[in-house]
Parts: sequence; C-alpha cells; structure tokens
Amino acid sequence: MRKIDRLVILTGAGISAESGLGTFRDEGGLWAQHRIEDVATPEAFARNPELVHRFYNARRVQSAAAEPNAAHHALARLQSEFPGEVFLVTQNVDGLHEKAGAEAIHMHGALSRALCATCDHRWEAPTEMQVGELCPACTAPTARPDIVWFGEIPYHMEHIIGALQTCDLFAAIGTSGQVYPAAGFVEEARMAGAATVELNLRDSDMSYAFDDHITGPASKTVPAWVDRLLA
Ligand code: APR
Repeated sequence: MRKIDRLVILTGAGISAESGLGTFRDEGGLWAQHRIEDVATPEAFARNPELVHRFYNARRVQSAAAEPNAAHHALARLQSEFPGEVFLVTQNVDGLHEKAGAEAIHMHGALSRALCATCDHRWEAPTEMQVGELCPACTAPTARPDIVWFGEIPYHMEHIIGALQTCDLFAAIGTSGQVYPAAGFVEEARMAGAATVELNLRDSDMSYAFDDHITGPASKTVPAWVDRLLA
C-alpha cells in the first residue's frame, strides 16, 4: 500500500444514523417528512420562520441527546494517533464528531450555533430558538440557525479544496453523493492523484468515482478501516 501522509475524510448523515439521527434520503428520511423548500432555504425562513425554527429546534434537541457511535470514536482515534494529517470535513450539523473528541470542519454549519442575518455575529444557539430573537452583538431581531441552506454557499470551501488538492487518500463515509459541492470532492482528490475509498451501506451516486468500496454499517466498517490505517 502506498505511503499515506495526508488524509481527507468527508462524512455525511450515514455516520450518525446508528446514533439515532435520521438521514435525509433513506427510507422515511428527513426529506420524506419535510419539503426542503419549506424548511431548508432562505426563502422558507423569510416566509415562515416559525416552521423553520421548529424544524431545527427538534433536530437540535435530538442531536444534543444523541451519543457518538463507534464510527465517530474511531475517527477521533485516527485523528489523535495517525502520524500524518487527518482533515475531517462533515456535511452533518450534529455535534457527534466533537462529542467523540474529533475536530471537524462543518461545511453546512452547525445546530449548536446561531447566526445574525444582519451583522454575521455567531454565538452558541439556545436549544430552542424563537422567532425575532435579538442578536447579542447588534441587537437586531434577525437571529437564525447557523445552517447553510440550499442556495447558500457552504463554509470553509477554500480550506477544503486546498486539503483535497494535497491529499494522498480521500474517504467518503455515509453520504449519498447527491449534493454539491461535497459530491464533487472525490473528483478533486482523484485529480490530485489521491487514492479514494467510499464507506457506505450501499452504492451512492458517486460510487463509480471511487477506487475502493467498503460496504456495511459505519459503526462496523469505520473502526476496522481505522485499525488497518493505524497498523
Ligand atoms: N452506515 C453507513 N452509511 C449509511 C448508514 C450506516 N449505518 N445509514 C445510511 N447510510 C448512507 C446511505 O446509504 C446514504 O448513502 O448514508 C447516506 C445518507 O445520505 P443522505 O441522507 O443523502 O445524507 P447526506 O449525503 O449527508 O446529505 C448531504 O444533503 O440535505 C442536504 O445538507 C444536507 O448535509 C446534507 C446533504
């Protein structure tokens, strides 16, 4: 196996599924219960902030009560024991990577943070956010969840692309590969000459682009994969 110094790992909702947090596009997933355009766009928030806060309040409560599973713990172990660099970027807005002791870049924001739509100030979100909440910095009544909605620009993209262009191995864990720019990360890594591996329950929309596939539940496949990397 070639020498690996720099890893980039992308996680999606599938890594948190076994912690009891619903995914988006699996059977009965979040997008089967709510229409994206009703709860996950800036227009939805302008039209019905009450409904949008209710959607994220429920997920914030659920996420706070959830525990990391063996996959989250394995990635934290990898980050602390791997001799090279482990750049962990997540599409998830739950805090389970952090609860397991890992450091993750949240490209779609985080349930734990609130954002002021007027002055861009960010602060620790209360478990239940209300409509018209005042920004602690500029006092405008324009607090919103610090979540990247459809039609908005994901966070930290320069940093992420920089890591993809210099990595030796790219792994995608528990993501359906249906939402860009994350779905395009594997191509970026391949162009940089990295090896690529997908860990998922089943094939995703980007499976064709990966060199290797490890099929099964993340709580089983990720610890075994990390053991091999640390051997
Ligand atoms: N172990 C491994 N993979 C799993 C497991 C599991 N236990 N359970 C489900 N999966 C896989 C599914 O096969 C699927 O490929 O996780 C993936 C979940 O896909 P999505 O629900 O589409 O979630 P994700 O890819 O993270 O969505 C990306 O879309 O809605 C937006 O912003 C939202 O960040 C989200 C983005």
